[in-house]
Amino acid sequence: MTGPDIFTFEAPARLTFGVGALARLPELVAGMGTRVLIVSDPGIVKAGILDRVASLLKDAGVTGDAFTQVEPNPSVETVHAAHDMFRRSRAAFVVAVGGGSAMDVGKVVAVLAAHGGTALDYEGVGKVPGPGVPVVAIPTTAGTGSEVTIFSVITDRQRKFKMTVGSPHIVPQVGLCDPELTLSMPQPLTAATGMDALTHAIECYVNTVHNPIAKALAQEAMRLIGRSLRTAYANGKDAGARTTMLLASTMAALAFTRTRLGNVHAMSHPLGAHFDVPHGVANAILLPYVMAWNLIACFDTYPQVAQAMGERVAGLPSREAAEAAVEAVRRLSHDVGIPERLRDVGVTREGIPRMAEDAMKSGNILVNPRATAYQDIVALFETAY
Ligand SMILES: [Fe+2]
Repeated sequence: MTGPDIFTFEAPARLTFGVGALARLPELVAGMGTRVLIVSDPGIVKAGILDRVASLLKDAGVTGDAFTQVEPNPSVETVHAAHDMFRRSRAAFVVAVGGGSAMDVGKVVAVLAAHGGTALDYEGVGKVPGPGVPVVAIPTTAGTGSEVTIFSVITDRQRKFKMTVGSPHIVPQVGLCDPELTLSMPQPLTAATGMDALTHAIECYVNTVHNPIAKALAQEAMRLIGRSLRTAYANGKDAGARTTMLLASTMAALAFTRTRLGNVHAMSHPLGAHFDVPHGVANAILLPYVMAWNLIACFDTYPQVAQAMGERVAGLPSREAAEAAVEAVRRLSHDVGIPERLRDVGVTREGIPRMAEDAMKSGNILVNPRATAYQDIVALFETAY
């Protein structure tokens, strides 16, 4: 399978990575202005990270307000409340610190600050007319990789729909990745966010619009996750494993930002919108089922996935080598305590037809390696249920 002849690759203007890198914040915000809005969530406040960020900004002569009420699967209303605070405090730029939710909100606030309107005006791909105000994205999970992507996912509670804002103009100016900030992640969050990163790597590696740069990044991300997620889960204080996982999540996100993903992400968004299943948990449960269904389209790519994840596949017939990838994912998921079925996380069977309809609206369906119809998605939800 070959990718497209012409491809585009985007990355933040600057990515700074490493243990202790947060200390570089003052120099990284130089020239962005003297008033900031910090966008974050209650967990980050409690962990003391918000205070550290605010004091580093103060050292750089930057003051402002903090919006700390971002929730999991963040809503349109949350974006608008944060934007109101941005305006009232006359901020010039955004520092988003937290998991994917805080960064996704911060990225859309930056669009509203520059172009006005509501978050709904920018739903879809390519609706943002130009650059937003500057954003510094600081991830505290490993992770969604939102610090480097062209996407924000915001939930419209009225429609029970997770909408995507996708534009090169929303890539943060600075991605600041300090593994130290991920040390306090509890086990379930480590597992869910790590499996989200693995899903990014695998889906963009096997889908129909992959490109060579994306593939190289995705392959390395799979290798790093295969080697380190169990350790990061078993011993959260292992700085080496945490560093490897954050690197992997950022690399996987650089890989998928332009290639998009596949059926797992198409299906996990309605699970979040209708049943509030955390994004990473939804992906982790779905991934082995979707991979098994995609298998017949992936005889040439799954063996490489298996190999990257540490499986020995040399000499195996291609079908067995491909199956080894599905098995490797299932085992990893099991080892880090991910539930096996959707029924284990509060999903009801009656919700499936509506969720399948919503999944079909996702652009991720179009790039999945195996052509997918509505009935296929229903069947996949049923199998995973
Ligand atoms: Fe994801």
